Order: sequence, then C-alpha cells, then structure tokens
Amino acid sequence: MTDILSIAPRPAMTTNKPLLEVRNLVTEFPLRTGIFRAVDDLSFSIEQGKTLCVVGESGSGKSVTARSILQIIDSPGRIASGSILLHQPDGTSLDLAKLDPRGRAIRSVRGRDIAMIFQEPMSSLSPVHTVGDQITEALRLHLKMSKAEARTEAISLLRQVEIPNPEKAIDRYAFQYSGGMRQRAMIAMALACKPQLLIADEPTTALDVTTQAEILDLISRLQKAHGMAVLFITHDMGVVAQIADDVLVMHHGVAKEYGPVEQIFHSPQDPYTRMLIGSVLKLEQKAEIRLARPPLDKTAAPLLEIRNLSMHFGEMKALDDVSISLLPGETLGIVGESGSGKTTMGRSIMRLYDPTAGEMHYRRADGTVMDLAKIGGGELKAARRELRMVFQDPFGSLNPRMT
Ligand SMILES: Nc1ncnc2c1ncn2[C@@H]1O[C@H](COP(=O)(O)OP(=O)(O)OP(=O)(O)O)[C@@H](O)[C@H]1O
Ligand SMILES: [Mg+2]
Repeated sequence: MTDILSIAPRPAMTTNKPLLEVRNLVTEFPLRTGIFRAVDDLSFSIEQGKTLCVVGESGSGKSVTARSILQIIDSPGRIASGSILLHQPDGTSLDLAKLDPRGRAIRSVRGRDIAMIFQEPMSSLSPVHTVGDQITEALRLHLKMSKAEARTEAISLLRQVEIPNPEKAIDRYAFQYSGGMRQRAMIAMALACKPQLLIADEPTTALDVTTQAEILDLISRLQKAHGMAVLFITHDMGVVAQIADDVLVMHHGVAKEYGPVEQIFHSPQDPYTRMLIGSVLKLEQKAEIRLARPPLDKTAAPLLEIRNLSMHFGEMKALDDVSISLLPGETLGIVGESGSGKTTMGRSIMRLYDPTAGEMHYRRADGTVMDLAKIGGGELKAARRELRMVFQDPFGSLNPRMT
C-alpha cells in the first residue's frame, strides 16, 4: 500500500520564483444593477512548501479569489484583468488567468497541480457516484493507476482522513455520510494526487477540534514531505497562528494587509486587522456572559420531551435510544464527534426522517401536547410552522431558482 507521504517529492524550484504569483487580479460579476467587483486589484504570492492564510469577514472575496485561481468562478463572474502565474520547476510559467475556463490546459491543472477543498462539501461531491468512484477516477486520470491500485490507494486515503470502516465507506454515497465525513472525503480527494498547491476554503469548520487538529497535521506532513504549498482560508485566528507563514487580510475585495504572520500578529498596521485579532473572545469573558443570564424556571412543563428515540438506517444505528427534555427558554447544547448522530437527531425532531422508535412530546402554545413521532398530514404541517431548523449545509435548504 502506498502511503500518502511516500510519493516522490516534486523537483525543487531551480529558480527563486514563488510557486504562484497573483498580480493585480480583478474578478467581476455583471449584475442587473451594474458591475460588482468581488476582487479588486489583488496581488500576493505563495512559495513552494509555505502556507498563506487568507482571512477577512464574510463576503470579503476570499472564496472568489480561490475560485479565480482555478477558473471556476460561478457564471456570470469573470476575471476582468490581472495575471495568475503558475511557475514551473523548469523556469517556464503558465498564466492561469489567460486560460479558457473550459479548455484542456486548465483542466489538467485542476486536481493535478492545484487541488481545492471547498467550503460546501456537497457542491463538489457528486450525488450519483460513490465516494470511492470519485477518488479512484482522479487517481486513474491523473496518476494513471490501475483500477485495483486506485481502489487500494483510495481506501488508504479514507483511512488517513479518519473515515471509520474505509473498506465499507468507499462504496457509499456522499449523502450517506455525515457533514464532517463529507468534508473529510473531500479532503482525501484533494490530497489524492499530491498537488503542488492545495487551496483549502474553510476546510475544518464542520469538524470537531480533535479531527481538525489531525487534518491540519496531515496537511503539514504533506507539505514537509513534498513541498506542497497551501492557500488556507479561515475565520479562525487560532488556526492562523498555528499554520500560517504569511497572512493576507481581505476586506471588500482588496488586501487590507499582507505579510509574514509574526508581523500581522505583533504589529498589525490596519485597524481592521487589529479588530480581527482582538475579536477572539476570551473564555473568562464568555463565562461572565453566561452568569449574567436570567435563571430558568425549572418548574415549568417541558416544551419538548423526547423518550427513547431511535433512528436506524438499515443496520446503521444513527440514533439509538436517546431521551432529552427541553424547558421553555432553555438552550440545550448538543456536542459530539463527527458522525455521532447530532444532525440525525435534529432531522428526526423535524420529522424529515420517520424515527424507527421513540416518542417526542411537543407542547404547543395553547398547552396541548402532540407526539411528533406519531402525527402526520395537517397536524405535522402545523407543527413544522412552530419548529424550525437551521441546516449545516446551506445549499440543501435554499432554493437556487428563487431570489
Ligand atoms: N455568483 C455570484 N454572483 C454575484 N455575486 C457573487 C457571486 N459569488 C460571490 N459574489 C459576491 O462576491 C463577494 C465575495 O464573495 P466570497 O464568496 O468570495 O466571500 P467570502 O470572503 O468567501 O465570504 P465567507 O467568509 O462568507 O465565505 C460577495 O459580496 C458576494 O456577494
Ligand atoms: Mg467563502
């Protein structure tokens, strides 16, 4: 079995050029109201073996920058000007900004030279192919492996990103994975061909801290083993402190600050950067906020009382004999590692699944109690107006055809 770290390192750069050099990039979206510049005259570069972290508030242009590099900007967006130079070890350079988004040249760069881990796993995993088929296809196409070699390698990759039972999981579909498992499958797929540059768009947000640390560690071992460069988009300044060599702070499509990580943390020049670093709320402060909250009325009748709830998918016991109770005004925090059944519990309460067993007594505003596990038709419709769920994967709940 080949280990992810055992493939021969890429020849070292003979030139002193960085691996990727972005110069004066402008990416625009023509809208009915005029042209919107999501990326506005942005320049940065990434050295072989180094990590550039891109931070900035939501909507500042981080994902559009990443997608511009691979020429996968959502239509009608386009690169209006600037260059994205991929420098090769032999001294030649390829300007990715000039390539046809549908052409052969950019397609051979994608996955092979530059791989991307997307912010929304479901938008990059195919719903009609098993996870294994998707990984083996990339291995066969880019690394010319045989069917059997590719399958063995795919199982090894899934094991390295800690997917339980990789021999079985390989033949399952992405929708049968939990949110965190999907994210890890996508990471395995991106790392499959040992790219020169890995673009990771908030890759660990759905993962618990232990798995996040393992994924970051895997990425850094790959970097050391064969000089992979990483462009890492994150909101987490803790992650930045841990992995960044350089930091790019974006705001409204422009670079607010760009430099080595020590400089950004120790003497931030820009007020916005200072705010970002300062926004990391201390744990003690959080505890104070908690103590200041009004106490719960423990004598009130529960709003929701769940008894012995189970949800089985075939032999997979996603939820097994769970009982909880929730008072009016109470916030119940549910934590657990990826794949432990948190989302399944939410979806069962909403009756997006029909639970295999158990009772879910819900007290309505008028005091009547209904068992959410038993109701249907009009009653279920009425209950759903009072119970709402915010989903993990926003794409699954927003209609792409409506504003
Ligand atoms: N397909 C599109 N059409 C029009 N505007 C878009 C499109 N995609 C992105 N934008 C706009 O481009 C800007 C930058 O978006 P981008 O997705 O890069 O933000 P981001 O920094 O990645 O934010 P987040 O942290 O929330 O992921 C936003 O104002 C967004 O509304
Ligand atoms: Mg984004």
